[in-house]
Formats: sequence, C-alpha cells, structure tokens
Amino acid sequence: MPQDVSPDVPPDAWDPAQYERFQAQRQQPFFDLLALVRGRPGMRVVDLGCGTGTLTRELHLALAARETVGIDSSPAMLARAAPLAVAGLRFEPGDIAEFAAAGAYDLVFSNAALHWVPDQATLLRRLSEALTPGGQLAVQVPASHDDAAHRVAAELAAEPPFQETLAGSAPALATVLTPREYALLLDRLGYREQHVRLQVYAHRLASRDEVVEWAQGTLLTTYRRRLGPDLYPHFLQAYRDRLLPRLDDRRPYLFPFQRILFWAGR
Ligand SMILES: C[S@@+](CC[C@H](N)C(=O)[O-])C[C@H]1O[C@@H](n2cnc3c(N)ncnc32)[C@H](O)[C@@H]1O
Repeated sequence: MPQDVSPDVPPDAWDPAQYERFQAQRQQPFFDLLALVRGRPGMRVVDLGCGTGTLTRELHLALAARETVGIDSSPAMLARAAPLAVAGLRFEPGDIAEFAAAGAYDLVFSNAALHWVPDQATLLRRLSEALTPGGQLAVQVPASHDDAAHRVAAELAAEPPFQETLAGSAPALATVLTPREYALLLDRLGYREQHVRLQVYAHRLASRDEVVEWAQGTLLTTYRRRLGPDLYPHFLQAYRDRLLPRLDDRRPYLFPFQRILFWAGR
C-alpha cells in the first residue's frame, strides 16, 4: 500500500464487517481458484492478503497443509483472523509489496489482493522466487476497470476538491494485466504448466444501491484512507449521486463482475 499518507489519515481503511456483507458472492471465486490447485501431502502454503482469514482456513483445511501462513497489512482484518488459527495455521502482518521468502513455499496463493500492488511483472517474479522447485502459484484478481463503479471513482478523483488530495495515487486495478499478458509473463517466469482465465461472476444484488455498499467494502477503502474523515463523506455522496443514475434500476440488480484467475506450476 502507498506509504505517503499524512499522519491525520486513518492508517487502516479496511472494515471487516463491510467487507463481509457480500461474503457469499466473494467466496465463489476463492473456491474456483482453490479448485485449480493440485493438492500434495505436507504442503507449505502462504496466503497473501488473507483478509479476515475465513478463506485462509478453508484453504489450509482443504489442502490438509502442513503449514499455512496468512499475511495481511490491515490490523483490523488480522484482528478478525487471529481467533481462526488452528494447528499449522497462523496469521502475520506484512506487506505483499515487500514479501520475499526464497524457496519457502509449495503454494503461493492470493485471492483478491494482488491488484493493490503495482508492477505485476516484478511482483510475480518475486512471488515465484518464494516457491519450492515443484511449487504452484494461484491468484485471483478483479478485472473490472471498465465498470461504472470504477470509472466513477476515477472520474471524481480527477476533479476538485478531491484531485488535490488524491494526486499521484494510483487507483486500485490500474495495475491488473490482461489474461494474455499474465499467460506470457507466467511462461517467461519458467512455469511449464498454466491455466489463465477471465470469468464473469453474475452477482445478484437486492438493488443498484448495493453496488455502493460493495464498493465501500473494497475499491473505496483506498479513497477513504487517502481522503480522511473530512473529505471522504463528500466523496462518497458524490460517488453515489453520479453512479446510481448510470445503473439499471432493476430489482434484483445483476452486477456482472469480471475476474482473472490464474494458476501455474513448475
Ligand atoms: C479484498 S480483500 C481479500 C481478502 C481475502 N483474500 C479474501 O478472499 O476474502 C483484500 C485484502 O488484501 C489486503 N491487502 C491489500 N494490499 C495489501 C498489501 N500491500 N499487503 C498486504 N495485504 C494487503 C487488505 O488488507 C485486505 O485484507
């Protein structure tokens, strides 16, 4: 996460309760990603951006892993995860952008977190170095930059009065590559096998208003942290006012969400 935040901005904008509001919809991509992993006895696993830890525990138990470490930079998310630790599963604070663990893991796993880290090529090279010789990499990132929910946030960020405070901050998702680019990158990193796919998750929300709630659980956390308690409420109101008229007023509201899933093995 960017480090150039002024001291009066809250250090942790993640809100576990807000994130978990759409738990059912957010879990499906995790299980789809897990299905790509080849389970082996006694695996050592790291889950980068483990969040509230619920899915890290699923991962640990499903693979009957010897050791699983969930890493996250959000104290609020880690506080939620801590009680979920079981034998062989632990949670630690850490920044994915600085993660390095030469040859330590049989699986580097990350569900819905790597898009917060710029320069995917450098990042994936570093994550690949953390793998054992037969290791696997499994990643899911949202690929919805062209959604109205993302476009409106980016538009407002470029306008007064938010522009001045947000100048220079890369909006989340700007870093995500295309499926083809990931395929090429994985090949260049020396993976013999790979599976890369773009998938549309057709989420049914009660109404279009829930898109704002959804965005508050993830995308808008960066804006909340950077804008601080004085400006963020204005941003949120402007976001709602501009976004809702662009969405169909149907109930339930179909929210098609694109994600990229990729797995690679050596
Ligand atoms: C959308 S949540 C996903 C959580 C979990 N993987 C899941 O599937 O429910 C993204 C998580 O990534 C974490 N995160 C974002 N940037 C990070 C970074 N640079 N280093 C470590 N964690 C980060 C956030 O704190 C948050 O908990």
